Amino acid sequence: MAEPLRHPPGTFDVLPGESAAWEDLLALFARVAAAAGYGLVITPTFEDIRVFQRIGESTDVVRKEMYDFVDKGGRHIALRPEVTASVARAFIEHRPPLPWKAWYAGSNFRFERPQAGRFREFHQVGVEAFGSADPDLDVEVVTVGWDFFRALGVTALEVQVNSLGDAKCRPAYRELLLAYLRDRRDELCVDHRARLEENPLRVLDCKKPECRAVTAGAPRQADHLCDECGAHFERVLGGLRQAGVVHQLQPFLVRGLDYYTRTAFEYAGLALGSAQDALGGGGRYDGLVAAMGGPDTPAVGLALGVERALLALEAEGASAKDRRRLDAFVVDLTGGEAARDLSTSLRREGFRVDRAFDSRSAKAQFKAADRSGARLALVVGPDETEAGTVGVKDLTAGGEQVSVPRSGLAAHLRAVLG
Ligand code: HAM
Repeated sequence: MAEPLRHPPGTFDVLPGESAAWEDLLALFARVAAAAGYGLVITPTFEDIRVFQRIGESTDVVRKEMYDFVDKGGRHIALRPEVTASVARAFIEHRPPLPWKAWYAGSNFRFERPQAGRFREFHQVGVEAFGSADPDLDVEVVTVGWDFFRALGVTALEVQVNSLGDAKCRPAYRELLLAYLRDRRDELCVDHRARLEENPLRVLDCKKPECRAVTAGAPRQADHLCDECGAHFERVLGGLRQAGVVHQLQPFLVRGLDYYTRTAFEYAGLALGSAQDALGGGGRYDGLVAAMGGPDTPAVGLALGVERALLALEAEGASAKDRRRLDAFVVDLTGGEAARDLSTSLRREGFRVDRAFDSRSAKAQFKAADRSGARLALVVGPDETEAGTVGVKDLTAGGEQVSVPRSGLAAHLRAVLG
């Protein structure tokens, strides 16, 4: 027999019930982003592969992890590994007035080795702000993420922040770092021994103990910033303090993507193991838009991992419960018309209503009503039909069934449901 069909490795299904936590998370992010003036942007899940190549030819995301293919029209396509480059492409294409502030939610694809908290299709929510180099915008972006996590219920949280300098001061730092690492090349991990010259900053991001031991004593970008970058970073740190965002200077935070300038940050979920504790990250990318062929435009943004955020909630014992989602469940003892007509009209009046199908027995329908999580059962039997009433029974508090005239049912439900 053929293998049963299953979801591909590194992907998953989220079923109703479990997905309530996703709905809450997405609604909360939309609210927090809108409160700061960000509007929803929707871009394609796949793009011309060149859109993503600017993320960094030396990053694993571009070198090894992209899902790319030639489509039937002969175009070289990639499923998006992240959203920032797509939003930058949309910005360049449509040239909206500045500042342009957008938020998004959606899937990303990276061919990584699946493990806890690491998937091949994963979901992000994020914001991107184009058109201002003001450090207070960096603070706004970091604070949006911080406030979102706090409102979600993630409390064991810390922001790690660094400055990566800019085109003026980074080249000198790069040389300094390269000289330091060249002297210790033999002590680095095999991979970085070979790729040192290509991008020495990547070594700072290496989690292997060999590289960690070498980089512990490496020169730090934050100590070699030009005056402008230094002042920018000071203002960001002051703003984070002012906003009550718990943060820590992480001198070797370089992030896994190459487009960052100046501010780079990550949200660390302290209740999670180190392999999956990055709940999100972001930073300034003042050079990306120009590198993609657009006008010179400063920008800053963040993306948060939805799966990671939910894992953090779970690790803190605060995972969202499946709230009672239905207002009422219709139990029809007349053969089905009442269930059909009453549920339709109540839904149109704004109530969340479900019902049973297939002319089930009264007992089976009450059982289904209980299982549905509905607050109320609405019972329609021959007597109710005759009298033009509906029996209303509270499924959570117990108590007697009360008879309510059909004409006054909506008002009654509103009063009971609050
Ligand atoms: P990133 O650090 O690559 O940044 O991803 C952001 C977050 O997405 C990570 O911190 C993590 O929570 C989640 N994530 C990444 N890869 C996976 C995976 N394989 N499985 C599960 N979760 C994952 C970016 O994507 C940038 N676009 C952020 C940004 C926005 N920078 C500026 N604007």
